[in-house]
Amino acid sequence: MKVAVITISDRASRGVYEDESGKVIKDIVERNGWKVVKYSVIPDDYDKIREEIMKMCDEFKVDLVLTTGGTGLTSRDVTPEATISVIDRRVYGIEIAMMVYSLRHTPKAMLSRAIAGIRGKALVVNLPGNPKAIEEILPHLTEAIPHAVEKIKE
Ligand code: MTE
Repeated sequence: MKVAVITISDRASRGVYEDESGKVIKDIVERNGWKVVKYSVIPDDYDKIREEIMKMCDEFKVDLVLTTGGTGLTSRDVTPEATISVIDRRVYGIEIAMMVYSLRHTPKAMLSRAIAGIRGKALVVNLPGNPKAIEEILPHLTEAIPHAVEKIKE
């Protein structure tokens, strides 16, 4: 499983703080025996997010794109809109699963607008920006994701 990790954060991309959430994703991905083949940190910019997701899917041909950040309600949070604009189909079950698992931890989970979908032969999943949120969500997805990726390729 070839995985691309895209951290979407104005501050992390300017080096104001370290990208903790990207590291947490990498750890979980590697613990599952998957491989992070591409990793980038970009600002909360609609066009840059679109370009990065498209590049990972179309050029680098990864199986899975995991984004972190920019799913909330501030005016800079445009990850869901950018993601919807480049995917062919939504995978609502993954979106719902993320919300269900997250609500077990905090009612603030309802403020994430994270999207999951398919672009070409790749699965794209948004995760919130908080490293703790990633720990709370991603381990629950790792069983279904390989099956999803297999089906997408059929
Ligand atoms: N989901 C989980 N599992 N745990 C969390 O702590 N934080 C929420 C939500 N989802 C959270 C969560 C909060 S406070 C916000 S504002 C939104 O994710 C959006 O986060 P983002 O803009 O960093 O993507």
